[in-house]
Amino acid sequence: MRLFIDSANVEQIRHLNEYYPIAGVTTNPSIIVKENRPYLELFRDIREVIGNEKELFIQVIGDTAEEMIEEAKYILHELPGNSVVKIPVTEEGLKAIKLLSAQNVPILATTIYTPLQALMAALAGAKYVAPYVNRIDNLTGNGVKVVAEIAQLFSTYQLPTEIIAASFKNVQQVHDVCLSGSQTVTVGPDLIEKFIAFPATPADVSVFKKEWQKTYGTDKTNLIQS
Ligand code: G3P
Repeated sequence: MRLFIDSANVEQIRHLNEYYPIAGVTTNPSIIVKENRPYLELFRDIREVIGNEKELFIQVIGDTAEEMIEEAKYILHELPGNSVVKIPVTEEGLKAIKLLSAQNVPILATTIYTPLQALMAALAGAKYVAPYVNRIDNLTGNGVKVVAEIAQLFSTYQLPTEIIAASFKNVQQVHDVCLSGSQTVTVGPDLIEKFIAFPATPADVSVFKKEWQKTYGTDKTNLIQS
């Protein structure tokens, strides 16, 4: 199980990367434009924060397979480190996934709404697939069930493609896909912080400290004896 940050906000990425077990950063065109700055510079800043080892996912915007392939090569040439190219599962996208994967370019097949889209992408050689859980739910589907069925298909056919479940609006969705066979999730910063936000925890910590200080004195704020 790995956790990615679904954001291009450098300060939020810096914070989460310092405090949480983060495997890398995923972006998409909508996420990039929110930052309203030159995108290559933005990608380089993100790379500087997370280092060269962690994966950084960048999505193509071309319409044809040829354009997507050109963009993929451009991304990999311009950016140092471990980058993964995101390609939507359209017909043109599938062709690009097939051709690039044959050249060992790491691809995440994105904007996935159905198990068969994921299966096609996996058969075309995609390293990752990203089912859009909340967007599926909004279309009166069941995002968690789609993830579970993709996991079942990949297991039945022994496909090495990894599921990176995406598009979450609440912690319960993340919890449910983690139990449904998604090896990995990518989640927005606000939601990641909610993973550990449970009021009883800081309340207990505060009681522990008060009890300790009743015996050992309030001048000590930690265990270290000098
Ligand atoms: O990574 C895909 C994801 O960003 C889509 O999420 O919240 O726009 O549905 P959302």
